[in-house]
Amino acid sequence: MPKSGNFWDKHAEKYAKHPIKDMQSYNQTMDRTKAHLSTDDSVLEIGCGTGSTALLLAGSVEQITAYDTSAKMIDIANAKAKDQQALNVAFAKGTLFDDTLGEKSFNVVMAFNLLHLLEDMPSAIRRVNALLKPDGLFISKTVCMAGQSWVWPIVLPIMQFLRLAPFVRFLTTDELEGSITNEGFEIIETGDYPASPPSRFIVAKKT
Ligand SMILES: C[S@@+](CC[C@H](N)C(=O)[O-])C[C@H]1O[C@@H](n2cnc3c(N)ncnc32)[C@H](O)[C@@H]1O
Repeated sequence: MPKSGNFWDKHAEKYAKHPIKDMQSYNQTMDRTKAHLSTDDSVLEIGCGTGSTALLLAGSVEQITAYDTSAKMIDIANAKAKDQQALNVAFAKGTLFDDTLGEKSFNVVMAFNLLHLLEDMPSAIRRVNALLKPDGLFISKTVCMAGQSWVWPIVLPIMQFLRLAPFVRFLTTDELEGSITNEGFEIIETGDYPASPPSRFIVAKKT
């Protein structure tokens, strides 16, 4: 369990109630994601949170497996799936590295608002590559905070010390894209939704 695991359990209910801050950027992200999905795709979403995105995309694919390390997030996601009678979405507590996930078994792996929270991002991206079928897609969106403000680098460590914030990496968009291409991907689409601070949407194809 990553050190931030308890943080997300504690904040799951608040996270679920919180409306999406920037609906326009969310809709752009979903529209561009859907453009790469097809109804025979088997999809993995990692860091699915309370499941809204997986449930929204379920109609565009054959099946979605959605994992999160927080049991509380998964409880909320399962309740929503039951309400919506979503039959092709399977939520479970877990990480990318679980043995239950077979290598070369997904057409698409998605990670929204997750990569900057991972303590070992390169290993995670390497594992995404291994889980994808040949030519599979890794679709992600990641906030890139490096150089954006002098406030966060000072405030965040204090919040982390007080356990009010999880582990967060301050990435540049170049660093993020380099980490993805280094692990055997070709980037085929990017966008910033929103532009500031850049929340970089990346579609990368397994090479
Ligand atoms: C910022 S939230 C994003 C949730 C959702 N993807 C979204 O965009 O709203 C990050 C989520 O990632 C989960 N998480 C953190 N580290 C993880 C890991 N190593 N594996 C899987 N999930 C993780 C947290 O529990 C949390 O639900």
